[in-house]
Amino acid sequence: PCSFKMLTTKRLIAHRGMSSLAPENTLAAFSLCKAHNIQWFECDIDILRDGTIIVSHDDTLDRCTDKSGQLYNISHDDIANIDAGSWFADQFIGEKLPTLEQLITLANRLELNMNIEIKSCAASPELTYTLIDNLIVGLKNLDPERELIVSSFNHLALTEFKRRSPETQVACLFESHHLWNDWNSILDSCNADYIHPEDKGLTQEMVHKFKTAGFKVNVWTVNDHARANQLFNWGVDGICTDIAHEFAIQSIS
Ligand code: G3P
Ligand code: MG
Repeated sequence: PCSFKMLTTKRLIAHRGMSSLAPENTLAAFSLCKAHNIQWFECDIDILRDGTIIVSHDDTLDRCTDKSGQLYNISHDDIANIDAGSWFADQFIGEKLPTLEQLITLANRLELNMNIEIKSCAASPELTYTLIDNLIVGLKNLDPERELIVSSFNHLALTEFKRRSPETQVACLFESHHLWNDWNSILDSCNADYIHPEDKGLTQEMVHKFKTAGFKVNVWTVNDHARANQLFNWGVDGICTDIAHEFAIQSIS
């Protein structure tokens, strides 16, 4: 059916990696993108007290590792003793919280494109600026052939990142209940390339407004096949999904 063909030409972004098949935000989850012919993945980054950038959605260890407590209270040397895979399944015992350096090495080696989401460093907001500095330094090792979008709900942090790294594509994230705010001026003051709206409540009219204003659109998090096709018919550029492998299977059948 033509709806399946359409997905082959559209951007599927694996949310936190292939997070329904492997522990989210681990090298295992990102590597599975290659196996399933998914070119893009999304991941979340935060910073440890010593300035090391790591990949994690939460600012605590509680949900996705075998330890507990604030990320802010650990440093690079602690990573080796923290298991980030066993909570998901025994086959992933030994997965670690990836560092930015490991993330970039993997993207280069597997030729994957990334959407890196800057989290807000809730435990220590002043570290956000160290994170931005260290991210820009780390990204110098990303192969220029790789595509990259840096996104954040923290629009001030994103504005500062774009000011310091104008050549990098950036995306303002919005939860749906914030989309009634002045999204256009936020995107303009960020000098954003993309808007990343939440799927919930998104209408064709809103997508049309984003596109008419000159922004590219990736929608999160879309796990319904019919909705994915509807969004692509409305002209969105990509979707962030937990089930990229299902869409990919359909697209080649
Ligand atoms: O980038 C889209 C999505 O990742 C934003 O929400 O909470 O999964 O990081 P969250
Ligand atoms: Mg995210």
